[in-house]
This record gives sequence, C-alpha cells and structure tokens, in this order.
Amino acid sequence: MCILIKNGTLITSRRTFAADILLENGKIVAVENPGNIPQQAAKALDASGMLIFPGGIDPHVHMHLPTPAGYSGDDFLSGSRAALFGGTTTLIDFVTPRKGQNLREALQQRKAEASNCLTDFSFHISPVEWRASMPSEIKVCVEEGAPSFKVYMAYKESIGLEDEDLKKVFHAVAEAGGIVTAHCEAGDEIEQLCNDFIKNGQTTPEYHPLSRPDRLEAEAVEKAIGFAAEAGCPFYIVHVSAEVSLRHIRKAQQRGQKVYAESCPHYLLLDDSRYQGTFEQTAPFVLSPPLRKKADNRALWKALIDGTIQSMGTDHCPFSFEQKKAGLHDFRKIANGAGSVEHRLTLLYTYGVLQNKISLNRFVELTSTLPAKIFGLYPQKGELAPGSDADLVIWNPQKEQVISAQTHHMHCDTDIYEGFLTKGAAEYVIAGGKIAVERNRWKGSNLKGRFLRRKI
Ligand code: URP
Ligand code: ZN
Ligand code: ZN
Repeated sequence: MCILIKNGTLITSRRTFAADILLENGKIVAVENPGNIPQQAAKALDASGMLIFPGGIDPHVHMHLPTPAGYSGDDFLSGSRAALFGGTTTLIDFVTPRKGQNLREALQQRKAEASNCLTDFSFHISPVEWRASMPSEIKVCVEEGAPSFKVYMAYKESIGLEDEDLKKVFHAVAEAGGIVTAHCEAGDEIEQLCNDFIKNGQTTPEYHPLSRPDRLEAEAVEKAIGFAAEAGCPFYIVHVSAEVSLRHIRKAQQRGQKVYAESCPHYLLLDDSRYQGTFEQTAPFVLSPPLRKKADNRALWKALIDGTIQSMGTDHCPFSFEQKKAGLHDFRKIANGAGSVEHRLTLLYTYGVLQNKISLNRFVELTSTLPAKIFGLYPQKGELAPGSDADLVIWNPQKEQVISAQTHHMHCDTDIYEGFLTKGAAEYVIAGGKIAVERNRWKGSNLKGRFLRRKI
C-alpha cells in the first residue's frame, strides 16, 4: 500500500517544516517540499492544518500482567488498539519470568502472548532472582534483540531483588552491552510501614501514599545510581514521581553518568489529594510509586523542560474496580496500577505544549525520539525520514475531547483522568504504512505487530 500525505507540518525532535511524505511497503520513502512528490500513490491524504508526528513509543506498559488480583485489564490486542487510538504505534512491555525460569524461555513465552499485538512491540526483561547462569542468560537476551533489563527494588516478596543481586545484574548487563531500568522504591522499609499501618487498623487507600513516602523512592534512586556507576552500566529510572529523586538524577547526569529518567502523565497532572475520599473514589489512584504533592508535579514539569527527564511512559496497567476491591479492607491488596496508554499524547500536548511548558519538538522527543534512541530503536522508529518505519500520527490540533471511561478504548471501567479536557487528538494513525485509525474510527483490521529486535 502506498500513501501520499500532502500539505502537513512535520514535527520531529529537531525541526518543524512543511512537507509532503510518501509511504510505501511499510516505510517512509520520501519527504519532500510540498508539491514535489508526483501523485502516483494509491491513496492521498490532505493534512492541511494538521501536524505530523512520528508514531508514539510508550516504553513502559504492562499488558496481560499476572497479579494476585488477576490479569491487568488490557491484553496485547485491546491495549495496542487503545494505544493506536491515542497515536502510540510502538509498545515496550516486560518479560517477568517465573522463579527458576530461563530468561530466553520466558522471552519466547512472552512473545507468544504478544502475538496478537497490533503495534510493533518489544520487552524489557526482568531478572527476578540471581543464579550462576544469569550472565549468559542476559547475554543471550541481548543477542536476541532484547538488550534492556528491568529490576525491582520494591515488591521484595515476589519479584524484587536484594542489593547484592542488583549489583550483579548491573555488572552482567554492562558486560553484555545492555541497559538496566529500575523501579526504585526501598522495598524493606515500605513493607515495614505497610504492616505497621495495617496493624493499627489503618487500612484504607489513604495509607497507600503514606506507606511509600518520597524519601524511600529517592533513597532507592541514589543507591541504584551508585550501583550503575560502579558497574559502568547505562541506567534508566522508570516512573520517577518525586522532586527529591530528581536531585540525585541531576547530580549523576552532571557528573557525566549515563542516567536517564522517565516520568508518566499521572505524576505531572495528578496529586495525592486523590487519596482523600471513599474507597470507590480513591482506589483507582492506587499505583506505585503513589501520586505525590503539587510541588512534585511542578518539579517534574521543570525536569521535562530542563532535560533531566528524557522519556514519557505511562506504566499502563489498568484494573477493573472489582479487582481493586481485593483491597477493600487492606490497601496492600489493592491491584496496583492504572491505564493511560491511550491518553499519553493528548495529555502531554494539552497540558505541556498548549500551556507553553514544552515545545512541539520537545513533545516529539519525549514521546518518541528519545525512547527510540535510549532503547535501540532509532532511526527505525522515532523519526520522520526516508528509511524509517511508516509509523506516524496526523494530529488535529483543534480537536477537543473530554476523557471518560465511557468512551476510552482501554479495558477498564474507571479512568484516572475522568473529566479532563483535552485539545489536540490523532486524526489519522498510521502503523507500518497502514491506516489504523481515521477520525476516531477503527480501520486497523489488517494490522499485525512485529517483535522489534533492538540494539543499544
Ligand atoms: O502500580 C504500578 N505501577 N503497577 C505496575 C507495576 C509497576 O510497578 O510498574
Ligand atoms: Zn514499577
Ligand atoms: Zn510498571
């Protein structure tokens, strides 16, 4: 299929320019001054008044995640469809092996689970324990095109690692030429605080943020940065939520250490006042790290602007209210997570670009180009240039919407952004050269995502 997109304004991480763009066999084959590409394409789209972005890359999603409260609400099919409605055309999810399971085997199993994914996809791989064969298992994953690894400093009872094992992972990944990503929260202290609250009968969602204070995120960030420095390993900190963490990240970056930071829209736009109210009102906002203070929101915006944060993920992990209710009498048992894979672009556009906090080019950099560069997908992804994949968004800057669980496409009966007004939405979403979404109507019945082999 050949598509010619005419009269649009192309936005890349570096440039804003008027151009026509020709897509053929899943690739961008030409980007030329308006009118310079002869109209031989099977289909022409007029993008007058529209902006054209590289398709979004969400580097942090959890589709079909097994938890004690059941699987997260979206599987790869429904989650990737929702992502496409929002303009995201590439997803990086996770491989979380069973204890004792070989990493490569777990990767193969997860690839099979993702075989119905409509967008291109990849995985960060989680060593959830240490064993003698781990360095060679890590090396094999890098060779198989999955060179990013995720460690958990929280969730010690299940997938979290002790410090000595964390250090070994950093060393093994550095040796293999990969990158470590980490969920940074000091697990032991959090468990102690959680247990103390429950013992005192303090069981409601209000105690969730109190059991996971910002200082415990910052301590873990500082410690992990030290491990990464010692091992000489590139390091990416997922879902940074707190101002105190940013100080350690900045210091490391100023020293010249390869430390990258991700945040998510909820840490920019929502705060801990959401934990005041009934269980029904507050449980949807139980996610980890928890929502912080308004001052943290402001500090994170500043970090997006000054470059301390390089990447915008969602940590998409929706659960139904019924699943959240597993923790009705014990906030520790509330399924942790919320969905927003569909909203990432429009939220950052509305509340970042339109409020003059970030430029359009920075918007593209945060939502697509830098995740592609950090995780070894650039310039196949994250760019609008001949040779890159034909993943792009034709963006209507005028379109206004109100976010609601009634109308979103994610499998979740609540939405943490319920009632949020947005301006700017995807008019067309094109993935692998095929139209997935046209004016909010689904056109992607012929889409098939591919596993992306990456190289850092
Ligand atoms: O609450 C969250 N974030 N759930 C998903 C798993 C994780 O910690 O990223
Ligand atoms: Zn996490
Ligand atoms: Zn996560």
